Amino acid sequence: MEIFIDTAEISQIKKYWNMGVIDGVTTNPTLIAKSGRDFKQVVAEIADIVKGPISVEAISTQASDLIAEAKELVKFGEYIVVKIPMTAEGLKAVKELNKLGIKTNVTLVFSASQALLAAKAGATYVSIFVGRLDDRGHEGMEVVYEIGEIFKNYRLPSKLIVASIRHPRHVIEAATAGADVATIPPDTLDKMLAHPLTDEGLRVFASDWEKVKKT
Ligand code: E4P
Repeated sequence: MEIFIDTAEISQIKKYWNMGVIDGVTTNPTLIAKSGRDFKQVVAEIADIVKGPISVEAISTQASDLIAEAKELVKFGEYIVVKIPMTAEGLKAVKELNKLGIKTNVTLVFSASQALLAAKAGATYVSIFVGRLDDRGHEGMEVVYEIGEIFKNYRLPSKLIVASIRHPRHVIEAATAGADVATIPPDTLDKMLAHPLTDEGLRVFASDWEKVKKT
């Protein structure tokens, strides 16, 4: 499974890119706003660091405007993937962008039927928001399994991104379900990295090594 980092924080992107554990980045307007920085500057900096898919969101509502926005966004570099909302106008734009060879990530997908339509329209990626489904009392991961089956049954080339991840268990479930990608916020990556038994083991090894040095 590929791992993308779900953030617009440059320091976090650098940290995990340099560790070799991430394959790409996803951003959205909320994450850019949270960074408190200029949108173009942030995207340019991400494109300087990451040599893998970088999803940047188009925010127009009409297909023609989404297409125009996408054409501007891809100027940031060869790895840009344009996030397009899961709407009728959005899918119309996806169809045209596919013809133009512009990669798309259909976002705000909450059901298998939406994912099927996005894939039919020619989406490169389809992002299912599991955390937001779980927040509402649904079982987000069930939808991941359904989409996985559908894409496999008909060899649909769209890649499934498990998004809106809340904790490491979501990542493991996404990988078990065979998702193509999990896009993970930095705090969850931090939790995946650390384990108290690793820390304890390191403490014991360090203190035992002191004893070896004294002998
Ligand atoms: C995906 O591309 C989105 O940026 C993200 O996963 C949304 O997650 P949230 O529900 O934590 O906002």
